[in-house]
Amino acid sequence: MSTDTPPCHEGLNLSAHSAVSSESLPPETWGLTRTEQGLCLEGRSLASLADRWGSPLFVVHAARLAENVRRFQQVPPGRQRGAEVFCSYKTNPIPAVIQRLSQLGLGAEVVSPYELWLAMRLGVAPGSIIYNGPGKTPGIARTLVQNELLLTNLNHREEIALVARAAAELDKRPNVGLRVATSDSWSGKFGIPIAGGQALAAYEEALSHPSLRVVGLHAHRGVAIEDAETLERFVREVLEFCDVLHARLGLAVEMLDFGGSLAVPTVLPLDASPLPLAERVRRRLSIEDYLARLIGQVEDHFHRAGRPAPRIFLEPGRAMTGNTQLLLCRVSSLNAAGAGPAHAILDAGENIAHILHREYHEIFHVERWGETPSETYSLDGPTCSPMDRLRATIELPRLRTGDTLAVMDAGAYLVSFSNSFCFPQPGIVVLEQDRETLVRRAETYEDMVSRDLYASDAAR
Ligand SMILES: Cc1ncc(COP(=O)(O)O)c(C=O)c1O
Repeated sequence: MSTDTPPCHEGLNLSAHSAVSSESLPPETWGLTRTEQGLCLEGRSLASLADRWGSPLFVVHAARLAENVRRFQQVPPGRQRGAEVFCSYKTNPIPAVIQRLSQLGLGAEVVSPYELWLAMRLGVAPGSIIYNGPGKTPGIARTLVQNELLLTNLNHREEIALVARAAAELDKRPNVGLRVATSDSWSGKFGIPIAGGQALAAYEEALSHPSLRVVGLHAHRGVAIEDAETLERFVREVLEFCDVLHARLGLAVEMLDFGGSLAVPTVLPLDASPLPLAERVRRRLSIEDYLARLIGQVEDHFHRAGRPAPRIFLEPGRAMTGNTQLLLCRVSSLNAAGAGPAHAILDAGENIAHILHREYHEIFHVERWGETPSETYSLDGPTCSPMDRLRATIELPRLRTGDTLAVMDAGAYLVSFSNSFCFPQPGIVVLEQDRETLVRRAETYEDMVSRDLYASDAAR
């Protein structure tokens, strides 16, 4: 088995879905190697994983997951402290993955009673849990207060009295923060705009409730942070608002929560760009650069202001898990009729990888990566929906039924948004140097109807 470094793959045509470039990124970007068995990870051929565990299949790369955690936990050079990092449950909801992340030292960022239940079930201490989200009911408010979490971020003004009331009734004083919306973050149902004094008024209201310990400020941008300028602007707006809170209300924020939003360098928007793919990726912020800039900006700001810097919380979702997982799928059938590229109908489509409608992800031919592409294909999913297409055009070696493809960067929002539309959902395997562990078996037909009440005997 040879593990030579493969040459760069040439000729992928991405033009119909995006004008990113005709080149593709080398598989080594994700730690893949090329061998006689095709693309391999940790010495295992990807095709053999699909043979053993079935296709489609999510493969979690344990070493890369640990590496991303380590990178996020670093103290940037010359700085006193790093950030406290929380795992965004909604981004990658696989219990075995979340459990690993907490064993590696991450806290939990949860947004629903289910996610809170899961965190507790996985043994995360309440003092390491942040609760976010816009849908708090009186019942949820009581649960949050009772559990004495590290921080509950109140999404909008109406939640202030709701949680304050629950706290007073239960004779508790929870740590709370308010989610603010900056001029370029998600807004609408998310957060309270800083603009127009709305966030300031909300803080004033929160501080008037003796049952609340108002210690936090939450600002999740939502829109991906891809470059240093965007990060600087976003952080500056938040820090200027901290100054306003201090000057107007005497509030020193203790927990400054910048949410997630750091982009995965290898996941690109589906827009036209004259730049080569590799250059677009190179310009993206790395985890190290993001941390150094963010922590530096916060520390310097508070140093200049002569006030102690708050604790910095981060809730990276896609940047933590996106590039730690890939999706293997196989060609079920080929339909070459009609004008335009032949349709390669895969066993995975938008039922599993819906996000590919919005993002460019690298896709490799597993068995014959590196062969000169000779055909143009449309990569279509198996469901009866005309929208079910993963890539409008891609150049590949001539495909055969049963060929395996690998969709890269499948670790964020694919499993969370998977559904059982027409087909059962795939299994999930964690791959380590010395072992493969099935952490979620593939859904069965029986699973798919297991919650339904019907005359099952009569139907047979
Ligand atoms: C409050 C909050 N924190 C963190 C995240 C993770 O975001 P991302 O995947 O952009 O890092 C999300 C996702 O939307 C979120 O809503």
